[in-house]
Amino acid sequence: MRGSLLYEGKAKKVYTMLGEEFQLILEYKDEATAFNGEKYKMFRGKGRLNNLISSKVFQYLHMKGIQTHFIETLSETEQMVSHTRIIPLEVVVRNVAAGSLSRRLGIEEGTILEPALVEFYYKEDKLQDPLINDEHAAYLTGLSQEDLEGIKQDARSINAHLKSFFDEADLKLIDFKLEFGKLHDGSIVLADEISPDTCRLWDKKTNRKMDKDVFREDIEDLVEIYEAILKRLEAKVHV
Ligand code: TMP
Ligand code: ASP
Repeated sequence: MRGSLLYEGKAKKVYTMLGEEFQLILEYKDEATAFNGEKYKMFRGKGRLNNLISSKVFQYLHMKGIQTHFIETLSETEQMVSHTRIIPLEVVVRNVAAGSLSRRLGIEEGTILEPALVEFYYKEDKLQDPLINDEHAAYLTGLSQEDLEGIKQDARSINAHLKSFFDEADLKLIDFKLEFGKLHDGSIVLADEISPDTCRLWDKKTNRKMDKDVFREDIEDLVEIYEAILKRLEAKVHV
C-alpha cells in the first residue's frame, strides 16, 4: 500500500499511498525530541503508543462531529489519513498554566486559565516556532482573519471534547497543540496527531505528569507513562 516517502518529521514519516492521490500513510517513529531538537532519545514502542492513542482521540473527535484528516488505523505504527496541505501554524490551547507560558509570562504552573488561552505559533523549525499574533498568522499563511477565527473556534470546541475525553480516563488536560491542513477542495480540517507528545496531561488526583514532560524534565520513563495512558483510555473511553 505504501508509496514513496514524502516527508520525514521529528516524530512521523509521511508516505504517499499507491493508487490513492488524496490519501497518505503516517508512520509514527520511536524517537522523541524536545526543545527544538536539542534533546533527543529513542524510545522503543513510542511510535506504536502514539499511533494508537492518537487514533483513539481522532475517532472520538469524529464521533463528536469534528472534521479531521483521520481515516483509519492501518497497523500498530501506521494510519491512513486524507492528504492535506499543512497550514504552518501550531495552535496551542491552554487550560492551566505550564511550560513556555509560565516561563515567558511568569504565571505560576498550575494556575487555572478561564477561559482557555488560544495561541498561534509559526511552524518553522529554523525560527524555533515563534509565538505570533493573528496579523502575523494571516500574513504568513495567506489565510483570512475569518479562516483564522474559524480555526480558533474549532480549537475551543476540540478543547471541550478533549477535556471530557481525558476526564473519563482520570486525566486533566493542561494544554495541547493542534495543526490544521487544507484538503484538496480547500476546506480546513484538523490534522497531525494528538498524543502525550502534543498534550500535557496530569493525573486528576495526584497531578503526576503523564506526557512528554517526563522526558523534557527527566522525570520518569516515557514508554511506561504512555503505556499507562493507553491502558486508561482503553479501559475507560469507548469510541
Ligand atoms: P509549550 O508550553 O512548550 O509552549 O507547549 C504547549 C503545548 O504544546 C504542550 O502541550 C506541548 C505542545 N507542543 C507541541 O506539541 N509541539 C511543540 O513543538 C511545542 C513547543 C509544544
Ligand atoms: N519542541 C518540541 C517539544 O518540546 C519538540 C522539538 O521541537 O524537538 O515538544
